[in-house]
Amino acid sequence: MNFTILNFDSLDSTNTEIIKRAKQGASEGLCVVAREQTAGRGRHGRVWISEKDAGFYFSLLLRPTIENKFLPLITLMTAVAVFDVLTELYDLEPDIKWANDLHVNDKKISGILAEMIETNAGLAVVVGIGINLQSSVFPAELKDSATSMAAESGRKIDREMLLKSLTEKLAKFYDVLQGANGAAQIRDEWTQRSSYAQGKRVTVKLADGQFEGTTRGIAENGALRVETETGAIKIVTAGDVERLRKTA
Ligand code: BTN
Repeated sequence: MNFTILNFDSLDSTNTEIIKRAKQGASEGLCVVAREQTAGRGRHGRVWISEKDAGFYFSLLLRPTIENKFLPLITLMTAVAVFDVLTELYDLEPDIKWANDLHVNDKKISGILAEMIETNAGLAVVVGIGINLQSSVFPAELKDSATSMAAESGRKIDREMLLKSLTEKLAKFYDVLQGANGAAQIRDEWTQRSSYAQGKRVTVKLADGQFEGTTRGIAENGALRVETETGAIKIVTAGDVERLRKTA
């Protein structure tokens, strides 16, 4: 993939910027990086706090040619790429919490927001990645559940190196996904890296309630299979999955 990288000091949201440019006909491989976002977006309409230089705020434009039913695998493919950056470049030991949160020591270090849009040149996917670089700016309510590259690696993060490694890994796994048998390969890569893939006791929080169960692998399109107490398998395509924590 050919990358074109645009750097900004401040933007509302790197995803929003890419959506605008995709609608104007931008090509696959366009990347937008900002030092700060004034309206950073998370999943489920949440805010992604994006203080200046406290995080890495990045979006990439894709124009995939895979079957539509496999499009959700783009988020899994992205999580695999971020996982490998954290492992290979920073010696961290991350985990992927379904579907696409990266955790280190049970705390969130990175989130992914993939958005699908229609453009004149066809369907496009915007992949947004936020990586926490510094913990100092976390608001009180995030202190227990979030961590950062500085806190976990003890190193100063070189943003250029991070960008280079991230784009290399994204290109690699996007090629895999778009290639022969790509969907199955990405499911395998994801499964190898996530403790949530098999046998994990979880609570699934949906818009209209929640249930508990044990994870039983992922479905063809990346949805999570969860076995409930009655032995039924529920397929989770949206919602939040939380590890069941032992209570005292
Ligand atoms: C989540 O875990 O809820 C997803 C967070 C995604 C945040 C990134 S930061 C870069 C890109 N631009 C945005 O507005 N959001 C994503």
